[in-house]
Amino acid sequence: MRNKPIGIFDSGLGGLTVVREVWDLLPAEQIIYFGDTARVPYGGRTQAEIIEFNRQIINFLISLGAKAIIFACNTSTALALTTMREQFAVPMFGIIKPGAKAAVAATQNRRIGLLATEATVKSGAYREAITALNPEVTLFEQAAPKLVPLIEDGLVDRAAVQGALHEYLAPLHQERVDTLVYGCTHYPFLQAEVERLFPDQFQHINPARSCVLEVKEYLTQNQLFAEKKSGYDRFFTSGEPGKFGRIGSRLIGQVLPNPRKVNLESWG
Ligand code: DGL
Repeated sequence: MRNKPIGIFDSGLGGLTVVREVWDLLPAEQIIYFGDTARVPYGGRTQAEIIEFNRQIINFLISLGAKAIIFACNTSTALALTTMREQFAVPMFGIIKPGAKAAVAATQNRRIGLLATEATVKSGAYREAITALNPEVTLFEQAAPKLVPLIEDGLVDRAAVQGALHEYLAPLHQERVDTLVYGCTHYPFLQAEVERLFPDQFQHINPARSCVLEVKEYLTQNQLFAEKKSGYDRFFTSGEPGKFGRIGSRLIGQVLPNPRKVNLESWG
């Protein structure tokens, strides 16, 4: 069991920011990644849609032998993780609680800014997690619907990226937040641009790091930690594999070998 792969999924390329942390913190683990690029973005979708898409993806990852599954998607974590845990026995890890924990630990003025999808903001999942950790923290939430499509396109339109970041971050900056949570796994790809636009203004919280640290602890405690890499990492998409590989490799700075297209509906 311990040498079976870890399943990781997202609506598209954003979950690669979680893959990056797995490569760093769990280098012996084999990864199977699924990006639902044909149906990205998830951020404007209903809970029923997200639950159905997640169910198909999890079935697929389990069919490939996943010993654990990381929801490398805040929107899926917020809207579907609880339901999926009722339907599947495989251990599943969300990204919101670890992100909230890291943000609460980092803030000094107890003013945290959240940049997330519309669905994640509406769900209130970060607010709930942060309030449970420290009711004295004030959370300022900003939905950022323009960002995911720009990232999926490979950040080629830099002026549009800068304009959108300015539009979304200026209000948070005005509220004097000292900590900024990248509450969508796509957004850490924008961190360098955020630092250029708002130099030294925020502590940057990438929930992927804390999430993968939690996974590491779980695997260690349950003797599920891989001893050696048992196979190549495999990347799958519901969209166009050429585009997925090209833009994904560029964003993550490493070649994604031979991504394959999967028709999820046939996996029930
Ligand atoms: N990367 C995802 C998240 O963390 C979903 C973004 C989207 O598809 O809207 O929420």
